[in-house]
Parts: sequence; structure tokens; C-alpha cells
Amino acid sequence: MLHRPRRLRKNPLVREMVAETRLSKDMFVYPYFVVPGTNVTHAIDAMPGVNHYSVDTLVKDVEAGMKKGLNKIMLFGVGDEKSADAKSAYHDQSLVPTAVRELKKQFGEDLYVITDVCVCSYTTHGHCGIMENDYVQNDKTVDVIAKMALTHAQAGADMFAPSDMMDGRIEAMRNLLDENGFVNAAIMSHATKFASAYYGPFREAADCAPSKGDRKAYQMDFRNPLEALREAQLDEQEGADVLMVKPGLAYLDIIQRLKQDTNLPIAVYNVSGEYSMVKAAAERGWIDEQKVVMETMHAFARAGASIITTYHIKDILNNDWI
Ligand code: PBG
Ligand code: ZN
Repeated sequence: MLHRPRRLRKNPLVREMVAETRLSKDMFVYPYFVVPGTNVTHAIDAMPGVNHYSVDTLVKDVEAGMKKGLNKIMLFGVGDEKSADAKSAYHDQSLVPTAVRELKKQFGEDLYVITDVCVCSYTTHGHCGIMENDYVQNDKTVDVIAKMALTHAQAGADMFAPSDMMDGRIEAMRNLLDENGFVNAAIMSHATKFASAYYGPFREAADCAPSKGDRKAYQMDFRNPLEALREAQLDEQEGADVLMVKPGLAYLDIIQRLKQDTNLPIAVYNVSGEYSMVKAAAERGWIDEQKVVMETMHAFARAGASIITTYHIKDILNNDWI
């Protein structure tokens, strides 16, 4: 027999030598939920191991993570005042800008701070935009989204991750940031964000479930890969620096197609429902958590993602899985 692929699988040394996909700590981003108050570390029921933190405990937890090599985080604010116009989304005393200032004071350039930019935690109805006539108004929402990014930039954030899915938001954000001198503030667009049931646990964590209806009039239809590529191309043309695919596991085909279609870095968001399914099964002893998590992370990298946003990264680093 001339061809015996098993030769290169004979022992761990040769397997390591021929490994085609490798993970590094540098690829990972951890999402944090910031809440009001002090000394708060409140477990999120639907996401075992993930907590709400007040700004003070957030700083301590980030410091612990940094010792393990986790130096990129994404911030979500939960508990600012909700209103029809979502004005607390771009108020400089709100949770996210306050947390960013505090983190930057403590850690400066040693910590890369990405902020989520979306209004669903700041609107009374929980939709990702300004509602009029029972419809999320695109252009009015874009104005608010851009102002929100500017507020985060003024607080010192490094990168913005708009998760709203309005049309034209990347260009609007880019223009407002540039006009105000934030030419190096980067944008990681949720370029292809699908209307997904995998966001269930997050909506509890971020208190942002729509009180009525769903998000299908702005988030993407999961049947449409071509539309996904088009969304990503538009964001690239509008000036996005990184393109994100969300959720992850059920959308590996989108990551792979996008990888062939763009020269921008591709990020994946391994979302709350994906995380909680693994945690729930592992708690019952039905799966091996380490093996399932690491297989999943390699799948993201293999598909073409070079940035992985995941709630699993603390477990990965604390247990030396990479
Ligand atoms: C809201 C938002 C969602 C997520 C991130 N930002 C939920 C949604 O769109 O309903 C999901 C993240 C996760 O599930 O981990 N803009
Ligand atoms: Zn939203």
C-alpha cells in the first residue's frame, strides 16, 4: 500500500508536527456584563460560571484574567435607565463608559477593550432600535448607534462591536468617530448576525428580550448564505475593520465562505445558547467539557475565524486547556 495516512497519526509527536490548526491565547475575547452598584458578583442563572459584575468587581476579575493571558474583553451594560429614545445608551455616566474609564485607568494599553454597541438593553421594549409605528426605524437608530460608539470612544474604548443590524451603521459610526478624531478606534461589525434562538440565555443576562415580537425584521434569516455575504461586503465597504459571524457553531459554513470572500480578519461569536448547552450537558456528566470545548474552538479556527469571542475562555485558561 503506497498511501497510509495513519503514518502521520502514529504518536502525539508526529500528530503535533502535522497539526493544521493551532489556537493561541491571543485569539480570544471574553464578554462581560456590567451592572450598577458596588461589590456585586451575581451569577447568571442560565449561563453557569458567568456573572454580572459592578465596575469595582469587574476591574478585579479582569485583573485575574489578565494574569492568565486574557487581555481582550467585550463589555455589555445592563441596568441603565430604559427609555423610548434609549438616551442612556450614549450618556457618558452610563455603566459602559464608566467601566471603560476605570479599566483604562487601571490597565491602559495592556487591556484591549471592545464595547457592544446596541440599544436593546436601553429601550423600554427591548428591541435593538428606536421604535415608531411598531417598526424599528433604521436611520433614527443609526444616529443613536453612532453617538453610542462616540461616547465609548471618548471613554477610551479601543474597538466597537455594533450588534444591532441596522443598515448603514458602520459608515455612520466611522464618519462620526473620524470627525471627532478617533481615527484609530476600530470597528468589529456583527456583519452577519442571524435571528437565532441561541441567544436565549443572553437575553436574561442582558435584560434585553423584546417585550413584543422578534428581531427578524433586522437580524438575518438563517436560510440565506448569499445574503450573509452581501451583508459582510457592505460592512467592509462601509469601513469595518473586522467582520464577525454570529452565532458560531451552526454557521461554520458562513465563516468559511466569508474567509474566501474577504481579506479582513474574521471573528466568531460563540453565543450564550451554545455555551449553556455545553455547560448543562457537562454538569450532567453526559459529555467531557474540556474535549467538547476544545473541539469546538478548533472548529472555529479551522473554518477561518482568527478571533473567538466565547464565555468558555475563562475555563480554558484557568485549566490550562491551551
Ligand atoms: C443584542 C445582542 C444579543 C447578543 C449580543 N447582543 C442578543 C440578541 O440579539 O437578541 C447575543 C449574545 C449571546 O447570546 O451570547 N444586541
Ligand atoms: Zn440589541
